[in-house]
Amino acid sequence: MSEFQFVYPTPTEVLEQHPLHPHLNVFRPAHKQHSALVGITALEEGSVGTVLCDGQVVCYATLHPPDRYQRFGEATVEGILELGAVESAPEFRAQRLARRLLDVMMPPESFQENIIIATLYHWHYDLENTGLSTYAYRRLLEKLYSRVGFVVMKTDDPEIISYPGNALMVRMGSEVREELQAEFERLRFLRSTRGLDLSR
Ligand SMILES: CC(C)(COP(=O)(O)OP(=O)(O)OC[C@H]1O[C@@H](n2cnc3c(N)ncnc32)[C@H](O)[C@@H]1OP(=O)(O)O)[C@@H](O)C(=O)NCCC(=O)NCCS
Repeated sequence: MSEFQFVYPTPTEVLEQHPLHPHLNVFRPAHKQHSALVGITALEEGSVGTVLCDGQVVCYATLHPPDRYQRFGEATVEGILELGAVESAPEFRAQRLARRLLDVMMPPESFQENIIIATLYHWHYDLENTGLSTYAYRRLLEKLYSRVGFVVMKTDDPEIISYPGNALMVRMGSEVREELQAEFERLRFLRSTRGLDLSR
């Protein structure tokens, strides 16, 4: 039987030597996603967890600062990270690879000074391969992420609240500085703090 190797953080050169399984294509074609992952390993605050099997990556998860074009990327205080893509090749699903990889990446004592967000967008859900409904899929992800300390939090981000199958999940470290916490709260309810909704 093939052996699985859980690697975190995956060094750039290890990732360069291991192509992605060709069916890791939910977010973009596997070769393009591979380049994107290599790019993340080169970021100061970026890291990638991988499950290697027979010379290929069969499951991965990314951690990086939120993209600048999304609201949490506007933060003026450092320390917010995003659990970005998590993906297992369809042939390797339901073998606890994603679950075990997240355990390796985020043991309870890790990232205590950080706020890690995970945005659940229904347009990323692979309903076709899993056969799950949107809500069952959201529950699957909530359970998967809650095992490593994430909780669902409210926000007024239109991208999230536009559809009930979406959600914001947050892993709040126990040593998060007050100014980071305040900045996070400001961004979580940006429409209210900017006064956009209050007078209407
Ligand atoms: C979500 C995803 C990463 C899970 O990967 P995985 O390696 O199959 O996950 P695991 O085997 O660790 O299973 C995690 C949980 O999901 C459950 N699960 C996995 N596939 C399932 C399915 N088809 N139906 C029902 N439950 C399922 C498992 O039973 C497990 O729950 P448990 O801990 O209660 O036993 C995978 O389905 C995937 O790549 N999906 C496409 C990309 C995506 O949606 N990523 C998440 C958003 S970025």
